[in-house]
Amino acid sequence: MQKSFLSIANLSKDELLELLEVASTQRLRVVSKMLRDQHLALYFEKPSLRTKASFETGIGELGGSFSYFSAVDTGKLGERESVEDLAKTMSEYFSAIIVRVYSHTALEKFTAAASVPVVNALSDREHPCQVLADLLTIRDKLGKLEGFKLAFLGDGNNVALSLALAAEILGFEFILAGPKDYYLKYGQIKQTEDIDAALQNADVVYTDTWTSMGDEEEEMRRKKLFLPFQLNTETLRKAKEGAIVMHCLPAHREKEITNKVIDSKQSVVFQQAANRLPAQKALLIKLFSKATV
Ligand code: CP
Ligand code: NVA
Repeated sequence: MQKSFLSIANLSKDELLELLEVASTQRLRVVSKMLRDQHLALYFEKPSLRTKASFETGIGELGGSFSYFSAVDTGKLGERESVEDLAKTMSEYFSAIIVRVYSHTALEKFTAAASVPVVNALSDREHPCQVLADLLTIRDKLGKLEGFKLAFLGDGNNVALSLALAAEILGFEFILAGPKDYYLKYGQIKQTEDIDAALQNADVVYTDTWTSMGDEEEEMRRKKLFLPFQLNTETLRKAKEGAIVMHCLPAHREKEITNKVIDSKQSVVFQQAANRLPAQKALLIKLFSKATV
């Protein structure tokens, strides 16, 4: 496994499958000393509940410790000191750095300068930790990680890209339905404005906020353009019967998803949230396995 984890594409298919195997043994309250004597940093430029909580709980359950920094402590990347100086300094204190940032390019600079592993806890480009938990949830629910169709409704954002890359690695079908202006700008991903076509035969229907952190200035424009791609009872009916409904949360109820759908039996959004913990414990075990085993 590579030293750092910035993209889901940093994992080969075998590494990803192995990580998910380890994850299924690491549910809540499974404790060990795999990270004994390791002190990690969480450096978050943006707000977080699930990612912060699951990393902090996970590090504790693995016998490690952590320090948390928000932009209030250290400034945004490159604001108080250069990205490289921050990365080099933090590397002197911590055995890994978990980072949530606005700019993926800044994250790459940070990682290049750091001498310890860096984990992408969300950037404007990807949210790979989320997708580890999503894959675990899909496997829990569908019993497989290939041979199914995932339709993503809405914005071609960080979560959508990590899912699309996971689909390439594992061989499931990914399609995004949304307004053309907000398609993913990456490779040969299937994308359409025809929501019916995207939903046809879908086993998994996924949506996320129309306005990600950092895109707030465009909120009004987005609201109008994305409304036809709302996940509601009528749109869900176009997917395969019993399709599972996914959302990384936080959800904007009655915007990208209706209450009826997110609270329905088909919704697995809280299983996704719960799976953040075992997925990230498995990631940390894998990142540290050379040093600790
Ligand atoms: N899904 C997710 O990453 O949630 P937070 O922003 O609360 O961490
Ligand atoms: N796409 C969202 C995900 C939040 C977990 C964002 O970047 O704000």
